[in-house]
Amino acid sequence: MVSTHPAEVRNSGSQYLSDSRSATASPNQELLPLTAKVNSSGCLEIGGCDVTSLVAQFGSPLYILDEETLRTACRQYRDSFKSYYAGESQVVYASKAWNCLAICAIVHSEGLAVEVVSGGELYTALQAGVAPEKLYFHGNNKSVQELQLAIESQCTIIVDNWLELETLAGLAKLPVPIMLRLTPGIECHTHEYIRTGHLDSKFGFDPHQIDRVFSFVSKNPNLKCIGLHAHIGSQIFELQPHHDLPGVMVEWLKKAADYALPVTHLNIGGGLGIRYTEADDPPSIAEWSKVVCEAVTAACQAQQVPLPKLMCEPGRSLIGSACVTAYTIGSRKEVPEIRTYISVDGGMSDNPRPITYQSVYRAVVANRMSAPLTETVTVAGKHCESGDVLIKDISLPTTQPGDILVVPSTGAYNYSMASNYNRVPRPAAVLVKDGEANVIIRRETYQDLIRCDRLPERLI
Ligand code: LLP
Repeated sequence: MVSTHPAEVRNSGSQYLSDSRSATASPNQELLPLTAKVNSSGCLEIGGCDVTSLVAQFGSPLYILDEETLRTACRQYRDSFKSYYAGESQVVYASKAWNCLAICAIVHSEGLAVEVVSGGELYTALQAGVAPEKLYFHGNNKSVQELQLAIESQCTIIVDNWLELETLAGLAKLPVPIMLRLTPGIECHTHEYIRTGHLDSKFGFDPHQIDRVFSFVSKNPNLKCIGLHAHIGSQIFELQPHHDLPGVMVEWLKKAADYALPVTHLNIGGGLGIRYTEADDPPSIAEWSKVVCEAVTAACQAQQVPLPKLMCEPGRSLIGSACVTAYTIGSRKEVPEIRTYISVDGGMSDNPRPITYQSVYRAVVANRMSAPLTETVTVAGKHCESGDVLIKDISLPTTQPGDILVVPSTGAYNYSMASNYNRVPRPAAVLVKDGEANVIIRRETYQDLIRCDRLPERLI
């Protein structure tokens, strides 16, 4: 764990590689992937690969995904649920954090199920070989086409609202497995854009309508309601909301029994936060899982309800810390007595989180990991937008154009929210393991950028 402020340490990169990193480290509490180390040339190495060599080979910006960190996070969730919960359990990867073929395949191979929120994510997960019975389809405004794809692929549909329920009742010719998403009315402290559990949320049925919803479902034999779902928000550090949630949800379970619904699954959502800076102090995956499992068990005992199959649905805490983004440093601008900007070859198109949520990141210089921190700079992106600043006022060693800046904790909601703003091609992603690097997403080309453009005859 990291407790020192960057300004207080002399050694620039190693500050994020504290001694307490061990096989039992919880990935979401680490800034750099679990395999990160400084090699004999003073360069950052991840998954046994020298980051500067990776950039030389694959170009930059480059997403570097450490397979071991991702698999460790999957196993910690899976094993914690197994040890803290007496009933059956299933961990589901919320693939909106980063949905691509390789990641779906890895989490599936670890026994996780996959949650998708669009026809595109569903298609990708199916192409990756995820079994339909391990696919859960979310969304507050699924199209008829998406619902049909979901029915055909035989995944479970998490129904969010009345229109969807009625549309599905019309479309389903055979029993379709569904779960119902309800808004639990539980507040948590996170950015307002990523809070979902409070009653004023666009997601899920209003729990005041629960009787009407259960009654409707009980009269439609083709809507096979196997479970209930709630998700309260994202990047949450407190344990209290997840301690309180099961009490509310188990009441719903009890009520479902009154309508003779075959409800056996309870999905308590995701939301566990990760460390982006040394100031972030999230609970570990094991601590969070323990709280959830014990709260569900206690609520079931108190309300005399049999233990459901317990599901959770993390995204960020599975993939976030497993990936870093490597950039090449370019121009420098010194505004006397105000600020020094160094610019990198990416920015808000590959990491829209600072401009969207004011998210704060750290960085290290991969080819100067042991150099002292000598200056405070602001890291700017290359986009034509003043707000395209990745990191304000960070202590770094003195850098030169061509140095490699690495921003940690960029696995969740970075590639998945990336854009082609300014027609900047999206970066490549490589998966690293035991000294080997495989491209899992190739870098976009200029041809890719005009792939969907059409030039009407009369304009030629
Ligand atoms: N389940 C549901 C229904 C969700 O809506 C989400 C996230 C998750 C699970 C996974 O939550 P996590 O474990 O990743 O916190 N783009 C924002 C985050 C949006 C989260 C959307 N829903 C960001 O970059 O912070």
